[in-house]
Amino acid sequence: MTDPTTRDGGPVPHQIHPPQRLLMGPGPISADPRVLRAMSAPLVGQYDPAMTSYMNETMELYRTVFRTRNQQTFLVDGTSRAGIEAALVSIIEPGDRVLVPVFGRFGHLLVEIAERCGAEVHTVQAPWGEIVPDELIEEAVRRIEPRLVAVVQGDTSTTMCQPLEDLGEICRRHGALLYVDATASLGGNHFEADRWGIDIATAGLQKCLGGPSGSAPITLSNRAAQVISARRHVEAGIRTDDDIDHGRRIASNYLDLAQIIDYWGPKRLNHHTEATSMLYAARECARLLAEEGLDTAIERHRVHGAAMLAGVRGLGLRIFGDPDHKMNNVVAVHIPDGVDGDTVRQAMLEDFAIEIGTSFGPLHGRVWRIGTMGYNARTDAVLLTLAAFEQVLRAMGVAITAGGGVSAAKEVYGR
Ligand SMILES: Cc1ncc(COP(=O)(O)O)c(C=O)c1O
Repeated sequence: MTDPTTRDGGPVPHQIHPPQRLLMGPGPISADPRVLRAMSAPLVGQYDPAMTSYMNETMELYRTVFRTRNQQTFLVDGTSRAGIEAALVSIIEPGDRVLVPVFGRFGHLLVEIAERCGAEVHTVQAPWGEIVPDELIEEAVRRIEPRLVAVVQGDTSTTMCQPLEDLGEICRRHGALLYVDATASLGGNHFEADRWGIDIATAGLQKCLGGPSGSAPITLSNRAAQVISARRHVEAGIRTDDDIDHGRRIASNYLDLAQIIDYWGPKRLNHHTEATSMLYAARECARLLAEEGLDTAIERHRVHGAAMLAGVRGLGLRIFGDPDHKMNNVVAVHIPDGVDGDTVRQAMLEDFAIEIGTSFGPLHGRVWRIGTMGYNARTDAVLLTLAAFEQVLRAMGVAITAGGGVSAAKEVYGR
C-alpha cells in the first residue's frame, strides 16, 4: 500500500503530537489535565437536556468565579478578545464618550475597539510599569462625563494590577457604566464584581483559570443587561410577531449580547452553535476553582508569584514595574545589558522545554515575563523554572548568584 498523499502529492501530515512543554510565560499556560479530559468528552446536541443543564451549571459556576449574583453570566465563544469586543460593541453607540485608563498594551486594545464602535474615546495614561491613580480617573470622569469607563484589571504587558475597589462607586456617582477586562487576573487576584460595582467583566481561560484559550466568560449587571436589552433585534427567520425591535441595532451579529442572552436564557433562542468542547473546558476550569475555593486559589497564586519574584531577585536580576501593584501571577524581569532576551528564551525552550515570554511595544526585548498561574502555580514548576533559568543565564556568561533563585524561592515556601 502506498503512503497517503495530499492533492499536491506531498505526504499527509502526521497526527498531531505536540512536544511536552512547561508553559511559564504570561499565558497561555499548560492547561490542567482535568480540563483537557473534560474537553475530550462526547458531544451532545445544543438543545439536548444534558447540554442545557451544563450551560445553566456553567452560568452558576461563573457567578462564583466573578463573585456576583448577576443572572446574565455566561460564555462568549471565542478568545478573551471576543468577550471584550462583545461587551463594547453591545454597549457603545456611535458618538458615546468612553474613558479608558491606559497603563499597558491592553488598555490600548480597549481604545482601539471602542473607536471601531464609533465612540469618542478619551484616555488617562500612566507610564508602563505603574497604575493609574483613582484621583486621575475621577477627575477625567468628572470632566468628560463618559457613558462608559473601560479598564483592564491586570495588564499582562506590564504585569500591573489596577485597583478597582473604588471605581464602581466613582462611575455610579457620575452616571457611567464600568467595564473591566479581567482576562489575565481573574482567579488569581482579588476580584469582586458585585461589591466593587462592576457592570460588565470579561475573562479568558488561558491564564489563572487553567484552561486553553477559546472561551470568554462574561458577567453583566442588571443595569448593563438593561442597556443591552434596550437594543434587542431578533434575526429574521427566527423572529415572531412578539419580537419588537428596540433601539439602535448592535453592529455585530456574532457578538450581539442581546441575542446571546436570549440563547443562554429560558427562551433558548437560536444564535450560534455553542462551542461544546470549549463549554466543557470552561465548566471544568470553574469547577476546579470552586472545589479549591476562590480565596485559596488566589492565595496559591500569591504564594507562588512571591516565590518566583524572590527567586529572580535571588539570582541577582531586577524586577520591572511597581512591585506593590503587580499581579500575583506574572513577573517582568529586566533583561541584563548585553544579553539577547530571545536567545535566553530559545535556550529555555530547547534545553529545558520551558516557555517564558518577552513583552510588547516599548518593553519588547527589554523584559522577560514569567508566569505562575492556573495549573502551573505550583512549587515544582516554580523551582524547575528558576533552576533552568540559572543554568541558561550562567551558560551565557551572565553574572548571577549560584543557587540564589531556588533558595530564595524555597525561603518563601518555608515561611
Ligand atoms: C489583559 C488581556 N486582555 C486581553 C487579552 C487578549 O486575549 P486573547 O488572546 O485570549 O483574545 C489578553 C491576552 O493576553 C490579556 O492579557
